[in-house]
Formats: sequence, structure tokens, C-alpha cells
Amino acid sequence: MKTALIICDNEVLNSIYSVNLKTYTELNLIFESSLDKALIHIEDPDVAIDVLVTMASIDGEDTALLAYHNCIENDRDIPSIVIGEGDLIPDENHIVKNQFDIPGIIQNIFKSLGMNPKEVLAVITEDLYEMPIRLFFPFKKAFCDTYYMLENNGQSAPTKIFDKESDVWPKVREFLDQGVSNLLIPAKERFAFTKKVTQLLIESMEQITPETPQQESLDFVEQSIDAVAEQLFEDQEVTKEVIQLSQMCMDTMEEVIEDVPDLKSLLKDLAALKSGFLYSHSIIAGYVSTHILDNVEWGGDAHKEKLKFVLYFHDMYLVQIYKKHPDLMYEDKLIFDPNITEDEKEIIINHASEAADAIRRYPGCPLGADVIIMQHHGTPNGQGFATSYKDDISPLAKVLIIAEAFTEEIYQKIENKVPVNVEEIMEKLKERFTKHTYKKIINTLANIKI
Ligand SMILES: [Fe+2]
Ligand SMILES: [Fe+2]
Repeated sequence: MKTALIICDNEVLNSIYSVNLKTYTELNLIFESSLDKALIHIEDPDVAIDVLVTMASIDGEDTALLAYHNCIENDRDIPSIVIGEGDLIPDENHIVKNQFDIPGIIQNIFKSLGMNPKEVLAVITEDLYEMPIRLFFPFKKAFCDTYYMLENNGQSAPTKIFDKESDVWPKVREFLDQGVSNLLIPAKERFAFTKKVTQLLIESMEQITPETPQQESLDFVEQSIDAVAEQLFEDQEVTKEVIQLSQMCMDTMEEVIEDVPDLKSLLKDLAALKSGFLYSHSIIAGYVSTHILDNVEWGGDAHKEKLKFVLYFHDMYLVQIYKKHPDLMYEDKLIFDPNITEDEKEIIINHASEAADAIRRYPGCPLGADVIIMQHHGTPNGQGFATSYKDDISPLAKVLIIAEAFTEEIYQKIENKVPVNVEEIMEKLKERFTKHTYKKIINTLANIKI
């Protein structure tokens, strides 16, 4: 068996190269993340290397050029394939400019090894379905063949990254760290996949103790919202596993919110997890509304219990929107985004009433939680977003509206890199929410810990 030495410091690319080279070239593969590490193999005459695949440069160093010189110095006549562009690539090397051009890389390997070119990248004939990347976290071994949508010269094509039963960790985390939000699986596997995720999440959430780090608990909350959303949209019937998972997740959310000393620590944990807006705003709004309920004269435990439900489900129908557009943020601005389709606009406008309808199917839903979900954008029928806020909605819905508005103000400050000034935010909110009943709620924010 022939051996390829690959020098590349990008974990996502490495996993893509690894699966594809294994599948199409049947080479023995050695991956190294730097030239220094690769030199150990190049300088060792006992390590057979038949082809070198290297990034043109890593960390500002001309890796390809240096590797080439080192091969010559060590009397190694190894054909090299260089990925990327640079002025200092030796003419003797084969060059593939685009790092995602897998067929190009493989064809060049065939050429330099004098092997017969095979059909590279077999056309994937099955339908693929996008799954949020976090749903892969509970798995140790891949549940099924898994793909990643590669962008190559303006064209996108799925490429396999996990064979069924191959190790999911730590690659999956690297993908998330590089901003990947969805992976693809065969569409026919999706129900079995989400069922399995639910089961695994229940098992891991059973292990949560008060000592479990905040970040880990929040991570479970995100995974659970994704898993429940996937199933809620497909199955009319809510399974007992979905109910169990939601319940555990709501309890975890509640514990996290009650335990954090201030908003800063929550924000820090959410940032570390690279949480999307949908999840992080629900958690932050949970913290803010708990504070409001602790400080408003009529607030009590029954309200908190109800709110726990509301926060978990209120934007469940937006999961599909944020899944497609992970960089979008503020809910009332979503419909103005040029990338949002007409169908998606429809979902956004109806998300509050749809979630309220869904929650009614849910056994054990606290009385009136559906109404608060319906009214959470200030319209009594759950359609669209209110422009003026009136007294025609329930007091608890007002709490959630103020909590979400406060949360958005904080996000804007963070985005604009200006310090958070609670008093200033309160003034701004009072201009927007002019009714006395809303102002009373806003006043409770004066002593919130941020
Ligand atoms: Fe919403
Ligand atoms: Fe929301």
C-alpha cells in the first residue's frame, strides 16, 4: 500500500481529506499539522512516503517550498501536490488552487503516482437532509454516513466526512468552531437519527449534577431544543421521550438561570459555546424575566413555572429559520432580510401562533402557557409583531416582551462594542413601551445584575 503524507493545519479540511482520500485512493495516510512535525517522517528513511500533499503556506510560512527543499536535502524524490496559492511554489509541484477541490486533489494524486484515474466523487444519489451540527454531539460513532456541503468555485456539492460507525469526536467540535452549523445525512435516516439523539440526550442529561459546568448544561439545552424541534415539526404525536427530554431540559434551563451570579457569566458561557441567537436570547431572556418576576409585586413561583415552558417553546418554529440562516439575529428584523424567502416570511409571521397551537398538543402544559406564547410579540392573535404595545395581552406576556426587548438591547450594545448601561436601556424601552403597565415592569430592571 502506498503512503501519502499530508501537511495541513485545518481540522475540518483534514477530516474531509481523510475520508475522501481513503475512499478514492486507498492510500495509507499520515496527517501532520505543521512542517516541523512532517519533517520527522521526511527525515526518517524507514518511513516510506510516495506522495506529499501540503498546504502552500501555514501560519505565514512557505510550507510547500520548505517541504520541497527538505525532501531534496534528504534525497527523497517525492511528488508533491500543493494546495492553495503563493509565489514561492516550486514549478515541479502539482498545484490545486482551491482547498475544497477534492476531485482536483485526487486526480493529481493519481497522476503523480501513475495510477489509473477513477471516477472521483461518486454522485450521491440519495436525498440528503440538513441536521444541526449540535445533534451530532451526543454520538461517539457516526450514526450513518455524514456529509458536509462543500463550496467549490461557486458550486456546492456534498462530500462525505464520516463513514457510518466512524469516530465523531473531536472532528465535530472543530467543524462547529469553524462556523459550520449543519451537516447532512441521508434523508431516510432522519427519523431514526433524531430518535437516537433524543435517547442519548436523555441518558446524558440524567448525569447532570449541580457540579456540572454551566457550559455543559447550556450545551445540552441547545441540543435538546434542536432535537425537539426536529421531531415536533414532523410528528403530530408527541412521544414520551420527547416530553421527557423537554422536561429535563426546562429544569436544566431553570437551574442555570437561577444559579448564575450575573448576566456577564451567562453571556461568557454562551459565547464559549458559539451559541446561536435563538438559544442564547432565550436563556438571557429567561434570566431577565426571572429577575422581573422576583421584583414585580404580583410575581410568584407559579409564574416562573409557566415561564419555563414558554421560554423553551416560544420560538421553536424559528429553529428551522435559524438553521438555514445561522447568522441572523433579532426576530422582528428577520422578515426584512434579503435572504429570507416568502415561505420563510410566512413561518416568521406565524411563529408565535404556530408554537401556541403546538404546545396545546403537549401533555402537561401549564394552564395559559399557550396564550403567553401566542402573545409574545405583542399581538393578541400571535400573528406578526406589534408596532404599538397595548394592554390587550396577559401580564406574563408583557414580562416576556420586556425581557426579550432588554435582551436585544444588550446584544446590540455587545455588537456595537459599547458598555451596557441599564438606565439608558430602561429609558429607551420606556419610549417604545408607553403604557403604564409596561413601564412598571421596566422599572424592576433598575437593580438587575449585569
Ligand atoms: Fe418569537
Ligand atoms: Fe424570542
